[in-house]
Amino acid sequence: MHNGTRLSQFIMEEERRCPGASGDFSGLLGDIVSACKEIASSVANGALTDLLGDAGSTNGQGEAQKKLDIIANDIMVRGNEWGGHLAAMASEEMEGVYAIPGRYPRGKYLLVFDPLDGSSNIALNVAVGSIFSILRSPESIRQPGEAAFLQPGTQQVCAGYAIYGPSTMLVLTTGQGVNGFTLDRQVGEFILTHPNLTIPADSQEFAINHSNARFWEPAVRRYVNECLAGTEGPRGANFNMRWIASMVAEVHRILMRGGVFMYPRDTRNQARGGRLRLLYEANPMSFVVEQAGGACSTGRERLMEVVPRELHQRVPVILGSRNEVERLVRYHHEESEEAFSSPLFNTRTLFRQL
Ligand code: F6P
Repeated sequence: MHNGTRLSQFIMEEERRCPGASGDFSGLLGDIVSACKEIASSVANGALTDLLGDAGSTNGQGEAQKKLDIIANDIMVRGNEWGGHLAAMASEEMEGVYAIPGRYPRGKYLLVFDPLDGSSNIALNVAVGSIFSILRSPESIRQPGEAAFLQPGTQQVCAGYAIYGPSTMLVLTTGQGVNGFTLDRQVGEFILTHPNLTIPADSQEFAINHSNARFWEPAVRRYVNECLAGTEGPRGANFNMRWIASMVAEVHRILMRGGVFMYPRDTRNQARGGRLRLLYEANPMSFVVEQAGGACSTGRERLMEVVPRELHQRVPVILGSRNEVERLVRYHHEESEEAFSSPLFNTRTLFRQL
């Protein structure tokens, strides 16, 4: 049973623990939380408001936008531009950096977000979410542009996500563990329901889009094949598989009961660097997962240590239960990189055992 602590109280108590805190960070977090509540309400209306369909436009990366992608982006921007806490924002749905309009005071933080992750699921009434990450704006830069955002995930001040599922939850870290809050719709407040979330180090559940198996590199094939072999195989255990195609829902499941999530490098996404975006998907989720005791990697390096080269950079993502992620990293080091990089790799799929 929860003790009724409201998110606003939680934020204030955290602030009191930081001598010298100006209240800026708490103010920013409050604005993000309000924006998430507004997005939750738009999402919850479903087909009633005729907002579930395609917008007929594409974002800067050429992906089709849903009407709710644009609405959620707008809610985040409008809800956070006026508070005086931010120097600039960036999002999956905006090609460039969003500068804070001159009529508002400029603050010391940067906000980067995916306003509605998993939105291709929106018409199916499957859980989707908003992911956010807060960085400090470099003091040396007066007008923050793209370069200001190119900070490794280790520099994040705070990260989290809101999940719009059967209940709306907000999961948050400021580097002192992970806490989950559930929206009490009657009161209009998030209530601390999941304090100090931790991910078990071992798990027998994995999530990957198996339809991409023919494009995977050897390490991922090996890991999945071993899981599929069950009690007869080298792992000596039966594994379960899940794929929701909504990263927020996937990470949330892992926080609730463990598991490993993979959107790895493969022969299709290799040229782009991966499928998921570093700054507003991989990094914030990695901060949350690591703070809950899990691990996060590209397969070759710790995700939060990747130094970003561009705003919408993509990366391979492997995250979740620590021992499973470490096993996958080991397999990446053991399997031959040359074989995967060779133009002949995977060309004879029919003769290859998956
Ligand atoms: O990046 C958006 C996203 O919807 C993630 O939330 C999800 O994990 C992934 O894409 C699903 O990709 P696919 O449709 O290739 O399975």
